[in-house]
Amino acid sequence: MQSSSLIREGEVFFRQWLRTPKSMGSVIPSSKYLARALAAEVAWHPGQYIVELGGGTGSITQGLIERGIPKDRLIVVELETHLFEYLRDRFPESRVIQGDATRLGEILARHDIGTVGTVISGLPVVGMPFEFQKAIVDQGMQAMHGKGNDDGFMLQYSYSPIAPLPAERLGLKVTRARYVLRNFPPAAVWKYTRA
Ligand SMILES: C[S@@+](CC[C@H](N)C(=O)[O-])C[C@H]1O[C@@H](n2cnc3c(N)ncnc32)[C@H](O)[C@@H]1O
Repeated sequence: MQSSSLIREGEVFFRQWLRTPKSMGSVIPSSKYLARALAAEVAWHPGQYIVELGGGTGSITQGLIERGIPKDRLIVVELETHLFEYLRDRFPESRVIQGDATRLGEILARHDIGTVGTVISGLPVVGMPFEFQKAIVDQGMQAMHGKGNDDGFMLQYSYSPIAPLPAERLGLKVTRARYVLRNFPPAAVWKYTRA
């Protein structure tokens, strides 16, 4: 990415943070190193889709494309209008959808999306109500297991050394797949699988 585009991406992200700090969770986009680490953990087979929740300004989306996931197999769900419009312009060949990740099932059905390989969440989940966390996980897992991908798992990144979602209470197992120092703040990639 050109440095002027990077500056623009940072501006768009920061402006949205000023509007809705709680839904952003960070003041700057994820680094390319975090994007690469996440993309490396993704399981994808030809014909499947990858779902990204909370696309922001697209740093993780870009990492997925660089890893080789076909652009037209990427489903990016973003709640905030300004970010949705930015993402739609940045990734015209991908399916960028404005919507609430807690309603992922409806979104995928409406867009007739088939089998999903992995669901990645960049949503700020730490400190969120349990009902929100459960909706994200239930809908994300159902998007894979409900369509025949029984091994499907979710990836979530966070800035804390503690797993960001309460795995046991959610009926899941969690492992820390990666730790990325070259991000601000340093981030961990967590892998959630069925217990
Ligand atoms: C921490 S930012 C991550 C952005 C980007 N993935 C990155 O790593 O730079 C969280 C993103 O989740 C979006 N978001 C928050 N709640 C959401 C929801 N319920 N459904 C969809 N997107 C949501 C925010 O608008 C924001 O773009």
